[in-house]
Amino acid sequence: MSSPEAGAPAAAAGGQPAEARDQFGRRIEYLRISVTDRCNFRCLYCMPAAGLPWLPKADILRYEEIVEVVRQLAPLGLRRLRITGGEPTIRPHLPELVRQLRAVPGVEDIALSTNGVTLPQLAAPLAGAGLSRVNISADSLRPDRVAAIARRDLGFDLVRAAEAAEAAGLAPVKVNVVVMRGINDDEVEAFAALTRDHPWHVRFIELMPVGELRELTWEHVVPTDEVLGRIASLGALAPDAGPAMGNGPARYYRLPGGAGTIGVITPMTHTYCGSCNRVRLTADGRLRTCLFGDHEVGLREPLRRGEPLAPFFHRALAEKPEAHALLQMRTGGLRALSEVGG
Ligand code: 5AD
Ligand code: SF4
Repeated sequence: MSSPEAGAPAAAAGGQPAEARDQFGRRIEYLRISVTDRCNFRCLYCMPAAGLPWLPKADILRYEEIVEVVRQLAPLGLRRLRITGGEPTIRPHLPELVRQLRAVPGVEDIALSTNGVTLPQLAAPLAGAGLSRVNISADSLRPDRVAAIARRDLGFDLVRAAEAAEAAGLAPVKVNVVVMRGINDDEVEAFAALTRDHPWHVRFIELMPVGELRELTWEHVVPTDEVLGRIASLGALAPDAGPAMGNGPARYYRLPGGAGTIGVITPMTHTYCGSCNRVRLTADGRLRTCLFGDHEVGLREPLRRGEPLAPFFHRALAEKPEAHALLQMRTGGLRALSEVGG
């Protein structure tokens, strides 16, 4: 195999943008940026009802610092960004961050992962600032259940949030549904049916029973094959390429005549580490190369000392693991995903 040296950027010859590869030859071009660890929801599968010990403000990267990280890493091949949390839209003035990231040379695409609560108000300003599109987390179409799963009643309504995003031009809209047995698995068909009339990409995610989640266990995991079996009652599912702008591990299908697609993401029954294209920046400035496990390199201190970040990025890539061991980690002890940006 003639894969380039671990973590070294390929030569940027002929005006071609550089590309970064890790020690296994995977091209890394996708940076997920967590802008806060806090959230206005307390989803059953994500955090305890009382919340988590939040990061102190001084430890959280300021917008100028996040932009500086991207300014230094974009020339190394990171050209697609996703803003995550916690819930990113609860951080004040998020459109201002989007506007600054948009202005960084080499940045091609900026997406946002949100619980959608603020989209009716924020979709237009975010789009105006240069946001490309959104992923909305939605685990129920019934108001009482949304409140029970999120442990907060903030009046979230998926259709209203997704239509606000579309009206602002934040398309294609992707919807992420975490399927939980006995909690929302009876709504799989209703979520899938939304794709008949709406050009949305509704993705069913296998629950990962990580962290110290008292209310959810392996018993609540619904394997994807079962989800697809339920949807088959709506019509034959044809394999589909899915949304044009996709960075992720979903597999897609389409109902006959469907305007949108149905996706499945299977962290529990398959791993897709082999095609992993991403690294994560935590709200407090650590570069994490794998969602699970403790592979991370601190960027905040060198950033605040004014040191160049490229060597840290290359070290992180050289250490990026080949695959995570989630399936072996049945005993818990993993960090809540809100801390690492999902
Ligand atoms: N299992 C599966 N998905 C999760 N997410 C967060 N926690 C979990 C978990 N334990 C993902 C979901 C959710 C987004 C915010 O993060 O996609 O919609
Ligand atoms: Fe908040 Fe998303 Fe976690 Fe729910 S899953 S508590 S919306 S960060």
